[in-house]
Amino acid sequence: MTWIVTGGAGYIGAHVVRRLSGRCEVVVFDDFSTGRPERLPGDIAVVKGSVTDPDDLARLFERGPVDGVIHLAASKTAPESMADGDPFWLSNVGGVRMLVEAMTKAGTGRLLFASSAAVYGDTGHRRATEKRRPEPVNPYGLTKLEGEQIMGRSRLRTMALRQFNVVGAGTHASAADTGPASLLPAVFRALTEGSKLVVRGDDYPTRDGSAIRDYVHVEDVAQAYVKGVSLLSGRRPMRRHSVVNVGSGQGTSVLELVRLAGKVAGAEVPFRVGERRPGDAAESVADVSRARRKGLGPSRSLHEAVSSAWESWRHDLGR
Ligand SMILES: NC(=O)c1ccc[n+]([C@@H]2O[C@H](COP(=O)([O-])OP(=O)(O)OC[C@H]3O[C@@H](n4cnc5c(N)ncnc54)[C@H](O)[C@@H]3O)[C@@H](O)[C@H]2O)c1
Repeated sequence: MTWIVTGGAGYIGAHVVRRLSGRCEVVVFDDFSTGRPERLPGDIAVVKGSVTDPDDLARLFERGPVDGVIHLAASKTAPESMADGDPFWLSNVGGVRMLVEAMTKAGTGRLLFASSAAVYGDTGHRRATEKRRPEPVNPYGLTKLEGEQIMGRSRLRTMALRQFNVVGAGTHASAADTGPASLLPAVFRALTEGSKLVVRGDDYPTRDGSAIRDYVHVEDVAQAYVKGVSLLSGRRPMRRHSVVNVGSGQGTSVLELVRLAGKVAGAEVPFRVGERRPGDAAESVADVSRARRKGLGPSRSLHEAVSSAWESWRHDLGR
């Protein structure tokens, strides 16, 4: 069995590739815009190319028969999408459209898609089930929703995993998220570089005024992809297109996460409060009942996630 992982050299992709590679042949397809080759095991097949380039995609599928694709390649920074949405439409919508076309032409029938909690927008005080009406509050969320809809209209067997805020690291080198807009890397930079973390907004209608997110361990996310592959590959009847939340089911405020990270690192995190970031929801928390029913539910704690991310950050610093 051969599966392609687009965006396999990214933060989440590298964890997915490691979990999947013992189970099937894996081919990573990445343009290395944010991905890093050192995240990948040495024996993994890598094809450099972009999901927005039909020639690159044609070359990819000419290599031989492929059973399915995990599609993680995307532009992911929601605040950047507020400043300029065009690259997001090209990469996240154009990319899905071209990938679906290439797969259909090649006769590859299964697609597992990295969607996002951003499709819901603000979930308010209630955890979002997959039946909740999507109301994205930034272009990034809109492009992920459009990507889901393109998949839903295709003839492929598809599953969209709506990931919430992915944190943590595995045991391999360079396993941590280093994204410039992600909270934990900013906390760790404040701890190790002496800069001050900026907490974006303390006047949200939440328990302590800071935004509430659902932080899920990257290893739980990687495990959900492996389970998704087996569901899409199995003979059990299932909907042709399904949507599943991948989160922890727990809401944690930004200030609570900052305190936890300080405790794990054994130092107080220096921070100041700044303006809210345009396009940020007050609350975003998953209902993970469907994920649990399908065997894609979380099993790791937030403490484990933060500790693993801190260890990985320190490891990368020491190299
Ligand atoms: N990190 C999160 O908290 C989170 C939450 C919800 C959804 N997601 C989604 O999960 C996926 C992976 O996120 P991540 O955090 O690993 O991001 P990342 O930036 O670390 O990884 C994205 C990977 O895709 C590659 N890529 C980007 N555009 C490409 C293109 N046009 N063609 C080929 N490769 C391309 C990059 O080089 C990188 O390796 C994204 O689709 C993102 O929207 C992430």
